[in-house]
Amino acid sequence: MKSVITGSGIGIPKNVVRNDMLTKLMDTSDEWIQQRSGVQERHYAEAGQSSADLGMLAAQDALTAANKTTADIDAVIFATMTPAYYFPGNGPIVQAKMGFPEIPTFDIRQQCSGFLYGLDLADSLLKSGKFNRILLIGADSHTPLMPWHRGWEITFGHDREITPEEYEFNTRFRHLTVLFGDGAGAMVIERSENGERGFLHSRLFTNGSNIEALYMKGGSRTRPWIEPEQLVNGDLIPIMEGRGVFKEAVSRMPGAVRTVCSEAGVQLEEVDLVLSHQANLRIVEAVQKQLGLPPEKVPHNIERYGNTTSGTLPILFHECLTDGRIQPGMLICFTALGSGLHWGAALYRT
Ligand code: UT7
Repeated sequence: MKSVITGSGIGIPKNVVRNDMLTKLMDTSDEWIQQRSGVQERHYAEAGQSSADLGMLAAQDALTAANKTTADIDAVIFATMTPAYYFPGNGPIVQAKMGFPEIPTFDIRQQCSGFLYGLDLADSLLKSGKFNRILLIGADSHTPLMPWHRGWEITFGHDREITPEEYEFNTRFRHLTVLFGDGAGAMVIERSENGERGFLHSRLFTNGSNIEALYMKGGSRTRPWIEPEQLVNGDLIPIMEGRGVFKEAVSRMPGAVRTVCSEAGVQLEEVDLVLSHQANLRIVEAVQKQLGLPPEKVPHNIERYGNTTSGTLPILFHECLTDGRIQPGMLICFTALGSGLHWGAALYRT
């Protein structure tokens, strides 16, 4: 028995924010952003459009592609680090709004590795025999984490002068905020007794010895968990030590790809595509070079979406499938690394 992806879909908000729009908000430039990260534009969700809403767009798309309805799904897994509410997670929202029967929903939050962890969990649950068909969603809406009260409405075309204080405040977080965009992807994954297709092997890793490399305050460690001053001081904006995370990403992801290949008895050269988390074009290129693969085998779309966290892998998969870069019989390796640190890789035969 193998777990097979039978449909995929994406949910991308309409509003496109180009780098030059961000230069009105803070001391940055299109040149810096493109050179250091490869991002040219990203999409921002509308006010009130949560990760659950984006996830549902992708989920509907994936159900349609799989020729299935909500009645055919046995469980939903939702990966996000930006749920619509502190609790409950997005699973119950999706269950009710999309009209699923009272099936179990799992909410997981492994940040940029969320979708990869979801793939492994879906595969394991299907292999356990408990479920026949799972809907896996990865979605993040980062815009509420940005200092929205500092004039960010101009990214939606509301022209106004940014005060020097707002400009300075926004500039404090420029190494982080320019990288992210909002978006979602989803897959229908099901049990199949049909030959070679499906997930072959995966490995997940966690090392929590330095969570401060990439984390966000505001939680049960502080009482109360949110104070008005935290918002004013920018204490509820993620904290990232970019260079440290960069170094981890360019060694851990290729390492995980090599591990799954070797454990599955597959030569690296047999892999047709490595679908890597899209955090930075330079990271994607470093992964490709570390693995000694040609550029076309390690595709990227960060130019158009930025880092969508749980959305990157399914959006990239869906685009490659739609434009024909993914063909039947190919060997694909998914890999990701993110806050935690969590990372890993999964091998899949289309
Ligand atoms: O999704 C998984 C988690 N995230 C990641 O994987 C991200 C990993 N890290 C990275 O992608 C990169 O480290 C960044 C893109 C975040 C930063 O690139 P960098 O080449 O490591 O730059 P840096 O942070 O070392 O900053 C270099 C300079 C600094 O100026 P000085 O001190 O040299 O004068 C920064 O203040 O660039 C400045 N800078 C900026 N300048 C213009 C930082 N952000 C910006 C900006 N615009 N947006």
